[in-house]
Amino acid sequence: MTADKIKELVAQMTLEEKAAMCSGADFWHTEAVERLGIPASMVSDGPHGLRKQEQEGDHLGVNDSIKAVCFPAGCGTAASFNRELLTEMGETLGNECQAEGVSVILGPAVNIKRSPLCGRNFEYYSEDPLLASEMAGALIHGVQSRNVGTSIKHFLANNQETRRMSCDSRVDERTLHEIYLAAFEGAVKKEKPWTVMCSYNKINGTYAAQNHQYLTETLRGRWGFDGYVMSDWGAVNNRVEDLKAGLDLEMPGSFGVNDKMIEGAVLSGELDESILDAAVERILNIVFRYEENRDKTAVFDRDKDHETARKVAEETIVLLKNEKVLPLSEKQKVAFIGKYAKTPRYQGGGSSHINSHKVTSALEAASGVCDVIYAQGFDDAEDRTDEKLLVEAVEAAKSAEVAVIFAGLPDKFESEGYDRKHMSMPNCQNELIERIADVQPNTVVVLHNGSPVEMPWIDRVKGVVEAYLGGQAVGGAVCDILFGRVNPSAKLPETFPLKLEDNPSYLSYIGEGDAVEYREGVFVGYRYYDKKKMDVLFPFGYGLSYTTFEYSNLTVDRDRLKDTDTLRVSVDVTNTGGMAGKEVVQLYVADRESTVIRPVKELRDFAKVELAPGETKTVTFTLDKRAFAYYSVRIHDWHVETGEFDILIGRSSRDIVLSKTVTVESTVKLPFVYTTDTTLGDVKKDPRAWAIVEDMMKSLMPALESEQSESDAAKEAMSQEMADSMTEYMPLRGPISFGGHITMADVQALVDKLNALEE
Ligand code: BGC
Repeated sequence: MTADKIKELVAQMTLEEKAAMCSGADFWHTEAVERLGIPASMVSDGPHGLRKQEQEGDHLGVNDSIKAVCFPAGCGTAASFNRELLTEMGETLGNECQAEGVSVILGPAVNIKRSPLCGRNFEYYSEDPLLASEMAGALIHGVQSRNVGTSIKHFLANNQETRRMSCDSRVDERTLHEIYLAAFEGAVKKEKPWTVMCSYNKINGTYAAQNHQYLTETLRGRWGFDGYVMSDWGAVNNRVEDLKAGLDLEMPGSFGVNDKMIEGAVLSGELDESILDAAVERILNIVFRYEENRDKTAVFDRDKDHETARKVAEETIVLLKNEKVLPLSEKQKVAFIGKYAKTPRYQGGGSSHINSHKVTSALEAASGVCDVIYAQGFDDAEDRTDEKLLVEAVEAAKSAEVAVIFAGLPDKFESEGYDRKHMSMPNCQNELIERIADVQPNTVVVLHNGSPVEMPWIDRVKGVVEAYLGGQAVGGAVCDILFGRVNPSAKLPETFPLKLEDNPSYLSYIGEGDAVEYREGVFVGYRYYDKKKMDVLFPFGYGLSYTTFEYSNLTVDRDRLKDTDTLRVSVDVTNTGGMAGKEVVQLYVADRESTVIRPVKELRDFAKVELAPGETKTVTFTLDKRAFAYYSVRIHDWHVETGEFDILIGRSSRDIVLSKTVTVESTVKLPFVYTTDTTLGDVKKDPRAWAIVEDMMKSLMPALESEQSESDAAKEAMSQEMADSMTEYMPLRGPISFGGHITMADVQALVDKLNALEE
């Protein structure tokens, strides 16, 4: 429906109808207005499958939803670093929504993994905003290509579950832009999600739902978002203020209470009716966009989509350690140990919980393929070693040529609604791994978890496979990796620290009461570990393969550029091993010298290439201003400082294989305001300013000059370095105290003269 037609429709609606349109008719539907032919529109969770509830609705995954297909959760799909794959998953989800009459799927969830403890990390993508945003964008692209909307969530700075409905994320402006907003920015600008879901929490004192700055100025003004903003379920606190801030649709609703508030505010003049009209227009625009593009031929083919889920899962499994133990041979006698071999943990708890139509376990997938025996090993209902299960497992391990332990985090360890208390796996599982390693030298651990865990046994096992939460087809995918039918190609989308205390948010995570200070600033994840030169268990971007890749011929199309230019970077990658496989080529940029405190390097692009043995491909990247920029709080915008930058190509953030240096010249001069406190060192940076100050010093401070032809004793007392730094850090007002015979009025006149230069 055209914008004009929508406006006409809104003009025919009564105030009551318009107010009602701004909140859900029930848990999952928008209001219908039959007399005007406006249909109700259904939304459903998300993000890694369809949680469509036909009966009683809830937002915590409590009541049943229809049988659907559970894809790998965000933690895993991000590890694929594969945009095309995420798009394919999105297309599949979009098709499912078309078949089921769902207009918007509630995802993707892009919140930054600030701490390994966040209960919803399993749904989120990364500690890096570029990766999070690119993965989200690719998924949105796929879903929306089927004329179904997405709801990128949870906007903004929603990085913990503790007190999630009331906590106040206190984040400085630069950090918000470089890390937390950036996770949404690229996806919103490039892929134009139909909707955005605002989060429960406050940002610097203002609820996300009430935040005009982010919902309207940033989202719509700067990023060009043209869909509707909906609240997270129950995130509305002040309906009228929220509407003014840019929150269009309240979900699930307030049983009419807030509709009355809206009506009253319009009647009393507190709320301009045009604001209400604009919100209704935005909602109807999406309602009709879906309605007019319904695909009546779409079928939800669960078995077919299960195969897509398996394909996705294969690229979400990260090979973390392999001392010549993998791939396994189908001729080997293998012991599969651990409950998750039979009943895999493949998704997390809460609103994303999918009612899977079937689940394939690794045991099922391996049976018939090789000689496999199974022992449960542990019970994850409570963290207590069960001696009987342990002994059976040890016996099984002894009787086999290789033991594969399926371990990880039990359901209750990570879920929506609360955060983890520590980064450990259950003790009973750690003990099991140690005891198996005692008797079986060929031990491999397969992990099912949505966020990093400590691995006290890492040196005692030969192989570690991070399977994340791989969705309902995880068992088949894990076996494909274990037996080498698929070459592992996933990379960690987050750092695995050695211990929780190493994490940069450790000192302030969860906060004090509702106040959560983001004190680590931009130093989230590898940005921190790199700056501190810390050892980590596994770095960001890391993951092994069964083949080897060599990098060569890094070229840039110019050595010098302006910040308004683009830079083309290309590099050759060759598969030098014996097996076909995919490699993730990672491009980081490092600012060699900066006046602001910056991370050592930042991921600025990546590409995934598939190579047959012996094959070489050239990968090309195009970088623009943002690749070199930081967010300047002086101009409230992105800024590049003139200087040298390293273009780094890496296998991971800690394995940089090639580099080239380019010089970038800024076309923007940052405004500078001189004050009486400005140091002489800062004045010297502008030769015009320094000339003025020097002149004044000479004319007004003859006394100081003569005193400076000091005695030998004075020279001895003060080294040249000390004298230089005294001058460097001397404020313009300094000479008043040091015998310059000048007054504050003189200094102020000087400051005015300097500021005139800036105009
Ligand atoms: C979650 C959202 C979800 C919504 C609807 C909320 O509790 O935070 O992610 O989409 O419920 O189920």
